[in-house]
Amino acid sequence: MALDGVRNQIRSIPLENIAALAKSAFNNKEIIPLWFGEGDVTTPEFIGRAIYDAMLAGNTFYSHQNGIPEFRQIMADYLTGLNAAPVEMARITVTSGGMPAIMLAVQLTVNAGDNVIIIDPVWPNITGIVQMVGGQTRSVRMDLTDDGWILDVEKVAAACDGRTKAIFFASPGNPTGAVLSVEVQKQLLDLGRKTGIWIISDEVYCRMSFDQIVVPSFLDISEPEDRVLIVNSFSKSWSMTGSRLGWIVHPPSLEATMALMVQYTTSGTTTYLQYGGMAAIREGEEFVKFMTGYCRKGMEIVCDALDEIPRVTLRRRPTAAMYAFFEIDGMEDSKQACLDILESSKVGLAPGYFFGKGSEKFLRLCFCRSPEQLQVAMERLKAALR
Ligand SMILES: Cc1ncc(COP(=O)(O)O)c(C=O)c1O
Repeated sequence: MALDGVRNQIRSIPLENIAALAKSAFNNKEIIPLWFGEGDVTTPEFIGRAIYDAMLAGNTFYSHQNGIPEFRQIMADYLTGLNAAPVEMARITVTSGGMPAIMLAVQLTVNAGDNVIIIDPVWPNITGIVQMVGGQTRSVRMDLTDDGWILDVEKVAAACDGRTKAIFFASPGNPTGAVLSVEVQKQLLDLGRKTGIWIISDEVYCRMSFDQIVVPSFLDISEPEDRVLIVNSFSKSWSMTGSRLGWIVHPPSLEATMALMVQYTTSGTTTYLQYGGMAAIREGEEFVKFMTGYCRKGMEIVCDALDEIPRVTLRRRPTAAMYAFFEIDGMEDSKQACLDILESSKVGLAPGYFFGKGSEKFLRLCFCRSPEQLQVAMERLKAALR
């Protein structure tokens, strides 16, 4: 058996994920792929050119462990401009994407046998990461109300025990698009301060809000030395999923520790890619607005069509991110439903059960696609879900 001799924690990581489901259909042009968290917009030319120019200019050597100082300063200035409190460069570590930023956060805080509270419905990768370091996850589910998905922080407090090391959530969320209010964030921060539990705030979709310039961030309310880690990425708002570029904001006192952790994992983020990140921040505001508008248009097309399908319930339209997460009346098995839809309609969707217990009757659809493709996909879905 292939896993004989492999560490227990690795054996226990979930084998099923969206990539596994989509594997058979990879590169199949007949299929409209709405299962992944990425759209059909390529990285803008000004970013591509900055990467290319940096490479040809000879920026091909090892990078600083926390990231190129000029880039870190640009990030610190950008975050200071965006949020209510200043962010110093010592708090920024550049990573090879949002995923490695989450991995660093978990490796920094979780011992084998500890647990992490996960606010779900949630993008499932966090569970695999915690399991890889020998920790356990405990889910606290948000409540679905007419006002959208709401988090009850008392439930979070009740789920914590002496082995709880971190509380993880994404706001805006994947798959829900739910945005945690400042009040809820303050309650979580209070809980963290009282218990010493770390807050890991995933803000990857923070620039993709349909009704706010920027959503509430933990940077607005926390102090630099609070036990707060904020992960972010260039993947979504700058359409750079394939480049693998992100960052983590950490207490300034952990700058050297983060440098060591990077040293012993990736040994630094690809040097010339970081120049693309600099261009993205310096020249990318128009593009960020374009991406948000593109997703908003996609959301409207998808939600208008979902409204016409009697079996579908979408309590509230998402106000951020790139996903519709909707319930199907009479659907027993969301994975089988996705396979059936793939077969009959050639539309790739992600099954609800991937996103936590209680989401078995849901499907997730990524609407970051051209209006034309979304129209076709929704016509096919209307027929499939009749
Ligand atoms: C909530 C959330 N966090 C992190 C990531 C990872 O981003 P990256 O592509 O930069 O690794 C994703 C990607 O889908 C995501 O949805």
